[in-house]
Amino acid sequence: MISIQNYIKKNNSISPCFVCGDSLKVLKKLPANSIDCVVTSPPYYMKRQYLGGGIGLEPTYQEYIKDLLAIVQEVYRVLKPTGSFWLNLGDSYKNKQLLNIPYRVAISMQDEQKWILRNTVVWDKMKGAMSQSKDSLGNVYEPFFHFVKKKSAYYYDADAVRRKPREARVENGAVVSATGVSGVKYRRKIELSTELTEEQKKNAFEALDSVLDKIKKGELSDFRMVIKGTNQRVTNGDTTNLSGRAKELQDKGFYFLFYNPKGSMISDVWQIIPEDTQGRKSHFAPYPEDLVKIPIILTCPMDGIVLDPFAGTGTTNYVAAMMQRRSIGIDMSREYLGIAQERCSLFGILNNGEVEMINE
Ligand SMILES: C[S@@+](CC[C@H](N)C(=O)[O-])C[C@H]1O[C@@H](n2cnc3c(N)ncnc32)[C@H](O)[C@@H]1O
Repeated sequence: MISIQNYIKKNNSISPCFVCGDSLKVLKKLPANSIDCVVTSPPYYMKRQYLGGGIGLEPTYQEYIKDLLAIVQEVYRVLKPTGSFWLNLGDSYKNKQLLNIPYRVAISMQDEQKWILRNTVVWDKMKGAMSQSKDSLGNVYEPFFHFVKKKSAYYYDADAVRRKPREARVENGAVVSATGVSGVKYRRKIELSTELTEEQKKNAFEALDSVLDKIKKGELSDFRMVIKGTNQRVTNGDTTNLSGRAKELQDKGFYFLFYNPKGSMISDVWQIIPEDTQGRKSHFAPYPEDLVKIPIILTCPMDGIVLDPFAGTGTTNYVAAMMQRRSIGIDMSREYLGIAQERCSLFGILNNGEVEMINE
């Protein structure tokens, strides 16, 4: 059996390494700046009694947040400067008060721990547990925060998750963009514009031809053209002080909006059905595999290491192995990690490696 430090240093197998122990203590043993991507869902406040104890059942939510933030601080230390931290956290009620716990934690991370919040993804579960409440709405979403350590140059493979664009095509001999823009309407608009000078009209025709040429060559999949004096709304508002585009419109008489030929970026609302926990003996609350896939392919390089400090039944590690990444999973419960090991052993065998279990 190898130590967790050696796993980080030289193990090339995608077999995950599981460590049984308290995350705060285990994380303190890991070298600084050694992990590429952390994806986790800690115990929510006052929701469940987990087999190994741990955080979540503190007498007050303030104490729970303090305990969680101590672990999160260690996550900051072990994460590489190029790394990402994805935190899924649900909320709780006490005395009919919705405690706002995920946002309190996120704000403390920004204000007290130097984290930079890049997105708050809304995990739309599409179906919630049946709500018994007669005076509040049923809850079907949870926030999923994406934090980084540096403002820029963190690892981010946007192309890996883009929505595939529709292709440009040829119709009646003319090139038509992905959404059917052929340029005919824009040509008419330029001609009819009462506010463009002759010089501006000439420039607009030339610019439009050059964009259509790029569509033809497949360098662009789609575009929109906004032309002065044609009653089109200016994206980002009309104030020249505020919007570069409004200024461009004033100076040149037109501007373009281009769509990335590799597809558009996915949005911050993810519709993913939760795991079915009906009929399970233990309440280990696994999250769905699909929730973990995007964070891993988006923010963990192929040779990187994924970490889940509240690994439970190892969903993060299982998905990391499917995505060919190495991973570490820490949990207080040996029983949950046993399930995690079992789930991942298939990948361990395929890779001629052993799923490690270290006790701390
Ligand atoms: C919501 S569950 C995680 C479920 C996991 N995402 C999965 O898919 O199975 C939270 C886990 O945190 C563990 N836990 C609670 N406090 C801990 C601590 N201080 N250190 C390590 N693990 C802890 C619990 O045993 C539980 O398995």
